[in-house]
Amino acid sequence: MSDATEPPMLSGFGNHHATEAVAGALPVGRNSPQRVPFGLYAEQLSATAFTAPRAENRRSWLYRMRPSAGHAPFRPYDGNVLLRSAPFAEAAPSPNRLRWSPAAMPVAPTDFIDGLVTYAGNGDVAGGSGCGVHLYAANRSMVDRAFFSADGEWLIVPQSGRLRIVTEMGVMQVAPLQVALIPRGVRFRVELPDGTARGYVCENHGSLFRLPDLGPIGSNGLANPRDFEAPVAAFEDVERPCELVQKYQGRLWTTMLDHSPFDVVAWHGNIVPYRYDLKRFNVIGTVSYDHPDPSIFTVLTAPSDTAGTANVDFVIFPPRWMVAEDTFRPPWFHRNIMSEFMGLITGDYDAKTGGFAPGGGSLHNLMAAHGPDVASYDRAVAADLKPQKIEETMAFMFESRLPFAATGWAMKTPLLQSDYDTCWTGFHKAQLPEGKA
Ligand SMILES: [Fe+2]
Repeated sequence: MSDATEPPMLSGFGNHHATEAVAGALPVGRNSPQRVPFGLYAEQLSATAFTAPRAENRRSWLYRMRPSAGHAPFRPYDGNVLLRSAPFAEAAPSPNRLRWSPAAMPVAPTDFIDGLVTYAGNGDVAGGSGCGVHLYAANRSMVDRAFFSADGEWLIVPQSGRLRIVTEMGVMQVAPLQVALIPRGVRFRVELPDGTARGYVCENHGSLFRLPDLGPIGSNGLANPRDFEAPVAAFEDVERPCELVQKYQGRLWTTMLDHSPFDVVAWHGNIVPYRYDLKRFNVIGTVSYDHPDPSIFTVLTAPSDTAGTANVDFVIFPPRWMVAEDTFRPPWFHRNIMSEFMGLITGDYDAKTGGFAPGGGSLHNLMAAHGPDVASYDRAVAADLKPQKIEETMAFMFESRLPFAATGWAMKTPLLQSDYDTCWTGFHKAQLPEGKA
């Protein structure tokens, strides 16, 4: 959703965009001319191997005031030791169902980078598999600081407070119920127009997020490509020290620049930051009986080498009509080969009556039995199955083929709910007919 204070956006998932903040800055007809207009420096940013198949190949060309290579060595950054990547040496993976209450907003001045805490992760950052799940709570804008992750692309899911994300490739504002994606390596700065912000990040170490195939659904539906928006080129010419923090192999590193790294005057290509408005998701569901598997709610998928078995999927549970007849309408009990980290942006989730709050999280690893709690179950089996609209809710799931390990911090924090298992106590035993028991 654009508003009048925002610049126009470029439209379309995976498109080859071309944009310049100064007329004539973008070379025409070649990527790397002998002399780039205005003395800009050409730089290619590759998000896939040079030789990746054409349909998979993602790269952009950036034209900037100085080469990004101009920096001193990085040294370890100790401002945030809670932002991590799997594997975690300290954490024995737990088969237990875990749920966390929302984190409070920080009291001390904390920006987006220092306000991130890793709750869980899987796979191996060095091997390019799995993902990290980080939550952030911040109360000040990043000032003269920039960040990038060499470990993966960042899918940012705001829960409270808008983010104004300044990237090398332009500026985009993202509100709760929108999501943003920052490609691996792209420098960015997060400002807080509302003063505070809280939300979730999925750091994808694997193949890039893409739109899922639609199969028999056809050529439209779920997240439609044109609703993905990329920023137009914008730059700042600032000669002032700027700290550049990067996440590399699960740890943070820092160096100082003598200028703003947001000095890209023009760019073209198909690896771009983008945002998507979850309210535009075209929800597909049953109009007869039984609801489909929740994969029907997939917004983005990062495939693995095994077809249909994602490194990580981003799945949402948006407002929608429920019309199924003779059907238990909430999510059914299940044990899943995939592992599920869930979060809640707003409202209630239809399988839980309390305890799963906006800004909190839950983790159900593979084969962990879960489903509705007693109150939700009892209400669903007694419900009058007239058409019903689930409104003012948005839960989501990072679902992965690899089991998540919670970090040592996440297993010790008081936010971890010690009574979560009681959700599934108190169910009545089924009553078989006389003589059959
Ligand atoms: Fe589940």
